[in-house]
Parts: sequence; C-alpha cells; structure tokens
Amino acid sequence: MSPSKSIKEILEYFREIGVSELSADRIHRHRGDVTPDTDPLRDTNLVLPQISPDVQPTSPGLLASPVIPPQTRSLFSPVQPSSREETLEEIRSDLGDCQRCKLAPLRKHIVFGTGHPRAALMFVGEAPGADEDEQGLPFVGRAGQLLTRIIEAISLKREDVYICNVIKCRPPENRAPERDEIDSCEPFLRRQIESVRPKVIVCLGSPAMQTLLKIKTGITQIRGQWLDYDGIKLMATFHPAYCLRWPDKKREVWEDMKKVREYLRFVNAL
Ligand code: URA
Repeated sequence: MSPSKSIKEILEYFREIGVSELSADRIHRHRGDVTPDTDPLRDTNLVLPQISPDVQPTSPGLLASPVIPPQTRSLFSPVQPSSREETLEEIRSDLGDCQRCKLAPLRKHIVFGTGHPRAALMFVGEAPGADEDEQGLPFVGRAGQLLTRIIEAISLKREDVYICNVIKCRPPENRAPERDEIDSCEPFLRRQIESVRPKVIVCLGSPAMQTLLKIKTGITQIRGQWLDYDGIKLMATFHPAYCLRWPDKKREVWEDMKKVREYLRFVNAL
C-alpha cells in the first residue's frame, strides 16, 4: 500500500465515523509519547447517571469515588493473573456447551468473546447477530466493520482490545435479549471483565450499559459521561448498528471515543 493511499484510507475512516475537521496545528496534536500532565477527566469527573426513582443503585459502580488514581499499567499488562483470577479459557470452559437458557437449541455457535486477554479497552455489545452466530465471533457483520473503524480511529487494532456481548447466543430474528437470557449470561460477562480487568469498558448501546450498571436509564441520557463499574471507567455510547441506521449519531460516538482515547493516554495505555 502506498503511503498516500494509507493516508487517504485513514481520512476515509475519520469521515466514516463523522469527523469533519482535522487540524495540523501543533496545539491540537497529541503524540503517543507525550503524557498529558493533567487529568483529562478533570471536567468530567464520574458523573452519576440520573436514576429513575424506582431503580436503586445496587451496582457498587454507582458508589464511585471521584478520586481517580493515576495508573501505570501499559496497554497490556505483563502481569500474570494471580491465583485468584480466572483466565478467559477457564471461563469459556465453564460455559461449555451451554444449555442454561432457551437460546441454546437455536444457535449455531456460542459467541464468547475475542481479543487480548489483558486489553486496556473492552467493548461490550448486546448479542450476536446472524454473521456472529455463523462464525462464533463477536461483531463481524456490518456493525462489526464499523466497530473496527472506530477502534482504528483511536490508533488501536481489533486484536489490541477485547470484544464481547451481554449474551452469548443469537436471539431469533435478532430480537432484544429477554430477562432470563440475560440472567443466564450476565455472570459470565462479569467474570470476563474481572479476568481482563480493562482500564475502560465501552458499552455499545443500552442493554450492555443497563446490564452492567443495573440501571434503567436510556443511553441517550448518559452516553458520553464517565461512569464506574467496580473501579473501572465505563463509557456508554451508541451501538454501531444504531449508527448505521442513523449516521449522524457517529459524530457523538466519536466524541465519546475521544474521551476514551484521552483517558487511555492519561494512564499510559495508548
Ligand atoms: N451486535 C452486537 O451487539 N453484537 C455483535 O456481536 C454483533 C452485533
């Protein structure tokens, strides 16, 4: 690939995800080797979601401390999991040929998750679609292609991050996951997070965010704000499939991802 072609492709990525302006001004440049000397979250300290009165904040995440300790783990932690931590392989093996809910007989493949087992950035989607069910991998269809562009727009590759879904089997006709299906899969998702211990979780769409935070607030109300899941920064943004349907939403996703990029830079993970 010629250098000019690769620049053209990068610019196309940016246009695809809604970026309309790029600046060559030094003041707007961030280099990977420069660590911002101030906390990029200083103006956005852990805003708590507006919780509807009928919902109690049962997640420990909602009781977050606003103090953000600087961390030093690089993009992938070289530290081996301690004896009390499960590996992703162990969790996958425990899931086995899962028959815990009514989706089991309908699936072709369980879609457990893919990516780096010590990734600094983890994406959580909703449920596999037809392409994912076929291949046994998350986010490989059209929405997945847009997710790949989003990941590359913040200078990462798919193999640098960890990608999974709330539920691991495809619901028929791509309907929304039902309560019992989420209840069966949710413990596996929480164990995956505990195993990877990313610096940032990006929830793609309401179901992922509502499941992890145990809230009923809609994505539009709290996207773009730093939330907390068990000491891990959590950013909720629109699902790529929603962006394919409403392309102008890509602009907001990009705004959210810039915050993620800034925080990963702050903790030396990018
Ligand atoms: N949508 C999701 O939420 N997850 C996938 O894996 C694919 C599409």
